[in-house]
Amino acid sequence: MTETLASKAGPPVSYNLSQFPEAPRTIEEARADAYSKRIEDIDVANPKLFHNDVIGPYFERLRNEDPVHRFDSPMYGTYWSITRYSDIMAVDTNHKQFSSEASLGGITLFGNGQDRAPLPMFIAMDPPKHDVQRKTVQPIVAPGNLKILEPLIRTRAAAILDSLPIGVEFDWVDKVSMELTAMTLATLFEFPQEHRRKLTRWSDVATAVPGGGVIDTPEQWVEEMGECFTTFQALWHERAREPGNDLVSMLAHGPETRNMPPFEFQGNVILLIVGGNDTTRNTITGSVLALNQNPDQYAKLRERPDLIPSMVSETIRWQTPLAHMRRTAVEDVEFGGKTIRKGDKVIMWYISGNRDASMIEHPESYLIDRARPRQHISFGYGIHRCVGNRLAELQLQIIWEEIMKRFPVIEVTGEPERVYSTFVRGYRTLPVRIPKKH
Ligand code: HEM
Repeated sequence: MTETLASKAGPPVSYNLSQFPEAPRTIEEARADAYSKRIEDIDVANPKLFHNDVIGPYFERLRNEDPVHRFDSPMYGTYWSITRYSDIMAVDTNHKQFSSEASLGGITLFGNGQDRAPLPMFIAMDPPKHDVQRKTVQPIVAPGNLKILEPLIRTRAAAILDSLPIGVEFDWVDKVSMELTAMTLATLFEFPQEHRRKLTRWSDVATAVPGGGVIDTPEQWVEEMGECFTTFQALWHERAREPGNDLVSMLAHGPETRNMPPFEFQGNVILLIVGGNDTTRNTITGSVLALNQNPDQYAKLRERPDLIPSMVSETIRWQTPLAHMRRTAVEDVEFGGKTIRKGDKVIMWYISGNRDASMIEHPESYLIDRARPRQHISFGYGIHRCVGNRLAELQLQIIWEEIMKRFPVIEVTGEPERVYSTFVRGYRTLPVRIPKKH
């Protein structure tokens, strides 16, 4: 078989879910399990714990008893779990000792820098290369461009909401969260709107575990991502000839990026597709779920729609759409009383930092009127802090402003289906109904 860009990269991970132990079904069972184990046996990197949404007690125990926790995993090798907010910030701001480099394994738990060619992308680079590539795409999310995007997003949000069925059950993920974020992402790339769902699909496939429900085999990953790469390669050539105000044009014409090899361009495309899509989509879904699980907060929002921006930030904390980011130690480092060895994987569990009571009051509660709602760590910290954070907030604010104009309540009618992932914390489906007006 001839090597293609996609086959050179391969799926982010190729384990089988059956290799992981079954996870508890309820929080009570998880608490009993988390506290009955020897602490050294706690392995938080089991996608089934995230799928069943029972990861909380394991992190709670680690934060309290072993905040810098080593585990020798048969699946991932040795990895360190950093679980306290302040320690996460310390790692995230220390890129000299804790590298993001793709060749060392990159920014997720899975990579080891050996078993496949890691896709280069600026989130998985250290300075100075990171800085110049980030600067190249930053204008797309700068305040001036967000002003241009705002009315467009509002019109689309309104149209999506006005087309929803009333009085019958439907899937919020498919009809609302995916639609709005796919439309925005297509605009950022000047990608044909009629094919926007391809972006959603590629985003899902890019981070999928074969056998985890999205794709069945590593070969399927190569095939589907191959289509993505070919499509974007064609767009690069088109925009190189005729630039527009879009991400592909910015990369094709940026003085620091116009000569980047195709493999690196594709890596950055994946970064922007996943970054700009899954995270915001899952927060839109999470907001409906969180407000339903906390009816007092939903009532408060109805009384005070001015709380929407604060509710949005609280949902981003509560959801923590990316559960972790990973770094690799470039030298031996003394950290939290432990010796992290050169080459070890260091996992910053944002999902745990966001539940750290030493930084966030009543962290287990969903409270839409917190004094400092943006204090969460869901966007990371330091030089890699999410470049798209204001665009994410803008989309969430607009959809909620438009929802509140139309529907006093969106009822969740069943359990959400969550994804199998220790990285993307998200939903495949969320059944809802908009009640008929009385
Ligand atoms: C980086 C989260 C939305 C594009 C990151 C990081 C996190 C994150 C945790 C890495 C931070 C670190 O390593 O310190 C989120 C969340 C979002 C969101 C929770 C939504 C609620 C977006 C959107 C875009 C985007 C809408 C696209 C426009 C990026 C990019 C990076 C990044 C390009 C890499 C930045 C760098 O390496 O300098 N994001 N993100 N994100 N995000 Fe987001």
